[in-house]
Amino acid sequence: MSAETSRVALVTGAGQGIGRGVALQLAADGFCVVINDIVADPSNTESGAYEVKKTIEGAGGRAEVHRADVASAADRQAMMDFVAEELGRLDLLVNNAGVAPKERTDILKAGEESFDRVMSVNLKGPYFLTQRAADRMIQWKRAGKVGHPRIVFITSISAYASSPSRGEYCVSKAGLSMAAKLYADRLAEFGIPVLEIRPGIIRTPMTSVVKDKYDKLIEEGLLPIKRWGEPEDVARVVSAFARGDLDYCTGQAIEVGGGFGIRRL
Ligand SMILES: NC(=O)c1ccc[n+]([C@@H]2O[C@H](COP(=O)([O-])OP(=O)(O)OC[C@H]3O[C@@H](n4cnc5c(N)ncnc54)[C@H](O)[C@@H]3O)[C@@H](O)[C@H]2O)c1
Repeated sequence: MSAETSRVALVTGAGQGIGRGVALQLAADGFCVVINDIVADPSNTESGAYEVKKTIEGAGGRAEVHRADVASAADRQAMMDFVAEELGRLDLLVNNAGVAPKERTDILKAGEESFDRVMSVNLKGPYFLTQRAADRMIQWKRAGKVGHPRIVFITSISAYASSPSRGEYCVSKAGLSMAAKLYADRLAEFGIPVLEIRPGIIRTPMTSVVKDKYDKLIEEGLLPIKRWGEPEDVARVVSAFARGDLDYCTGQAIEVGGGFGIRRL
């Protein structure tokens, strides 16, 4: 499959977890997938970005790995240059890369270092990567190189649910939710739909460190659907959006959370 004939998707933070699930689904849907991650070791094909590439290629799909830190302006520019020079088009950007605070700390005590780290990866990175990607998408759409470019922001139920022991994460996701609306508004005239997806409690390496806590909460009835979410639950929504099924929903958020957001009595 050549990049001239296959649509191209860039998935940030795709070396594991939700991003991995999204990359595998999009490759199965026929996309050539650019697997971005801050960690990418070509000598390791058992885990991380090159495992995802190997798995996609083993199933007959096409994938490229591009190591980049979404928090770095130089890396974001280099990543878009890579897409332009190697593939010549971008049909879907999935802003997925994100980090949790290294330590949960009460908002009354938490320091600025963690705030700056979380905000730069979770908010500043995707905010400005989308600016660069949208610029290219507009150009490529005008030139007839892409038909229907689209953009996804993976936020979180933490965009509205308060966790005072990781306030910087909640604030970053609330900000990213607004970024999705802003880009949806601005890019509508160019025919570029934008979707926010809010995962709930999804089984990934990020949540493995709080597994016992969430096992207990789910068992006690936190979620109407009494199970963990899986990366595939999120990936199926990205797939529907990438197919064009949700284009008139631009600027909206879809929660993939087993009913977490339902107010109950
Ligand atoms: N797992 C959940 O329950 C959950 C819930 C809501 C939202 N989310 C969000 O979904 C996204 C993916 O989460 P996950 O659980 O798969 O996390 P994860 O930690 O398992 O995987 C994240 C991936 O992003 C990469 N990454 C981290 N910083 C990066 C950077 N600066 N540049 C490029 N790549 C970087 C990591 O190396 C890793 O491969 C995150 O934005 C997260 O906030 C996750």
